[in-house]
Amino acid sequence: MIVAIDGPAGAGKSTVARALARRLGLGYLDTGAMYRALTWLALREGVPAADGAALAALARAEPVSLTASDAGLRVEIAGADVSTAIRRPEVTARVSEVSAHAGVRREMVARQREIMAAGGWVADGRDIGSVVWPEAEVKVFLTASGEERARRRLSDLEGMGVAASLDEVRADVERRDALDSGRAESPLIVAPGAVVVDTSDLDVEGVVDRVAGLVEAAAR
Ligand code: DC
Repeated sequence: MIVAIDGPAGAGKSTVARALARRLGLGYLDTGAMYRALTWLALREGVPAADGAALAALARAEPVSLTASDAGLRVEIAGADVSTAIRRPEVTARVSEVSAHAGVRREMVARQREIMAAGGWVADGRDIGSVVWPEAEVKVFLTASGEERARRRLSDLEGMGVAASLDEVRADVERRDALDSGRAESPLIVAPGAVVVDTSDLDVEGVVDRVAGLVEAAAR
């Protein structure tokens, strides 16, 4: 069973995907964390976000490792534990640009397919149902109003002790939406066969119930 969960920033993908994976006893693959880890390394190494060839080479040389732990997902690249650092605003500000390069996506998608090959995964991202795993048994496109998504991002940032205003966060969410949806390479789209779920007025439990229902129906 592969469950593909795509959608814009702040729609609740990672929260829902993680909870669903736990409920169903499946693995959770956070593909955004892979693009974030590469962005973190590029910043450290001084590789410009515009240099697609250098970024793809970096992705090939330094594969991201994701491990489930009691404390959550551990993300490592080039020997560094970047689990927390990849959520910081300076990474968030650059990740859409880094992930827009075809060469970068080729590396990441190949690795994601390798990880998921044996089945038993809930994967979230922007292109799981459209590119990475179009034959997924369940495809969901999670969305929510811009206002609500900005509010959720703000509360995530507050949880990390990062100060920001709702207006700033909203502007960043909208800027990333435009980049992720407007790029030539694997843009964020509702994949053929995906069920659109608007989470604006649902709590996490409600969304997980809804998606778990889709999984149950697909398994029948
Ligand atoms: O889900 P997230 O906010 O952690 O993702 C970070 C960025 O990575 C997002 O702005 C777009 C990119 N991304 C992508 O292009 N494809 C994916 N499958 C996952 C994330």
